[in-house]
Order: sequence, then C-alpha cells, then structure tokens
Amino acid sequence: MKKIKSGIYGLNELIDGGMNENSTTVVIGSSGAGKTTLATQFIRRGLEDGQEGIFVSLDENKEQIIREAVEMGWSEILEYLDDELLVFIDASGREFSNFIKKELPAFVSDWSGSKARIAIDPLTPVMWSTKDPYEQRDLVGFMLKQTRKVGTVLCTLEEHGGTSDLSGSETVIPMYLSDCVIHLRYIPLEGGVSRMLKIVKCRSSRHSEHSHPYYIMKGLGLVVEKGDFKTLTSNDIPLEMKKKLAENKDDLPEKVYARLEKVLDELTDGDFRGLKAAHLVDSILNEYAGE
Ligand SMILES: Nc1ncnc2c1ncn2[C@@H]1O[C@H](COP(=O)(O)OP(=O)(O)O)[C@@H](O)[C@H]1O
Ligand SMILES: [Mg+2]
Repeated sequence: MKKIKSGIYGLNELIDGGMNENSTTVVIGSSGAGKTTLATQFIRRGLEDGQEGIFVSLDENKEQIIREAVEMGWSEILEYLDDELLVFIDASGREFSNFIKKELPAFVSDWSGSKARIAIDPLTPVMWSTKDPYEQRDLVGFMLKQTRKVGTVLCTLEEHGGTSDLSGSETVIPMYLSDCVIHLRYIPLEGGVSRMLKIVKCRSSRHSEHSHPYYIMKGLGLVVEKGDFKTLTSNDIPLEMKKKLAENKDDLPEKVYARLEKVLDELTDGDFRGLKAAHLVDSILNEYAGE
C-alpha cells in the first residue's frame, strides 16, 4: 500500500510511515484540541507535494478557516486558492443528507481518481442530521466511500464532555467505518494544558499504542513527541523463532510450517512487543500437538 506523509511532524513514525493512500482517517478531539489545525496541515502537505486539496467545512465558514490558517503562519494558502489547487466547499448551514446524497456524488465524478487530499471538518453535524443510527451509518459510510474515490480522506469529529469516553454512537459509527482513528486528548489545566495523541486504530499499519504528548506551535501547527516509541526493524526474534520451528518441523502440519515461515519473514522485533520467541514457539507447538 502506498504511504503518503501526514504533514504533522512526528506523526508518520507512529503510523508506519504515513497514511495509506485512499484511506480514511478520523481525528477525534474536544473543542480546542487542534482538529482544524491538523486538517489544514494534512491538506497543506498534499499541496506541497503537488496533490490537490479539498476542504469541506461543515462548521466554520471559508473566510474563518483561511483567516486562522494565515494566523497560524500559512499565508501561501491564498496562492493555492487563487490557483484553484485548493478548493473549499462550505457546507456549513446546509441540509447535510441532501448535500451528501445529491451534491457530493456529482462533485466526486468530476474529481474521480485525482489523488487529492480531502478534509471534512467536522463530521459531527452529519451525525446530528438524524437520530437514527442506521441512517447515520448509511450517511457516513456513503460519504467516506464517495470521498475516498477522489483521494485520501481525513475527517474530524467533536468529542464532548472531555471524559475521553469514545463509546457514544456519534463517535463509534465513524470510528468503525474509518481505516485509522486518532484521538487528540485535550485537558485544560490550571496554568497550562495537557495534550496527548493516541492512535486508536490504523488498518494495515504497524502503529504506536502509546499516548504521545503534542503541542500546537505557530508556523508548525501540531507537533507530536515520539517519546520512547520506536519501530524495531531488527529481526532477531523472527529469526530465533524460525530456527526453533525448524528444529520442531516434524511436530507441525506441513502447511502450517510453510505459512509460519512466510509470516515470520514479514515481522520485525517491534511487532513482538514483550513476547518471547521461546514462549510463542511453545504455544504454537502446543496448538498442533498430536496432529
Ligand atoms: N497562532 C497560534 N499559535 C499557537 N497556537 C494556536 C494558534 N492558533 C490556535 N492555536 C491553538 O490551537 C487551538 C485551536 O485549534 P483548532 O485546530 O481550532 O482546534 P479544534 O478544531 O479542535 O477546535 C487553540 O486552542 C490554541 O491553543
Ligand atoms: Mg475546529
């Protein structure tokens, strides 16, 4: 799968090098967490790379977002807009189900296959447009399916209450439907704030399972601290496992042995976290004992 860089310094290392092309990512966070800033960075990175950008705003109007982007130190945004490499779709105040079912498909057929980046900020009003969870699922599912035809999609989602409880239908449905989920936990404290980023899921990618502090800086936007997370690219553990499995080859069905050999070629030490090669081999041998 082709990876594209996120545009957020420090994030790519946490998601196996970047976002998968034509995938969908949902960024969840409460107000002030930095969702719009992150969405803007994602679009900006694409423009730097020659990909077109489409910013679908369902909340703030175009002028407001542009003004904030310029204040954040991104004045070139105006040139990209002039050159029509960046397009704004201001869907704020519109009837969303109508917008998604009627206007979106027409738009998508114009742009189809263009490898653009699409930001939808925030997706929350779509969830609010109906109370019926089945209809919510249909709307969001349809929207993601359509937009990913045009390129790589990033949606933001409002988190309410600050309890970091992601179990409400309003968050669960988009989380379930998207390939990658990033949680921005933002806690205002006396005399400062605490901001932590966590990758909740990321399909087809090895990703960090830690919480990472992040900061919002003028000119740079969100910057993520990698901390002690590292992808261990050495392969001592898979080699050790291969050796042990080879010694016990006769105790394993032929097909299973062949598959495990293949699987182990794809794994690195980082994949094993704390698991020990010897224990894992024991468990595998136990599974097939007596066959
Ligand atoms: N020019 C700036 N310099 C530094 N930080 C800023 C600047 N503008 C906004 N921020 C920070 O970004 C936060 C808002 O980010 P935003 O992306 O609008 O959040 P959200 O969309 O999640 O509500 C503010 O709370 C502030 O801390
Ligand atoms: Mg916002």
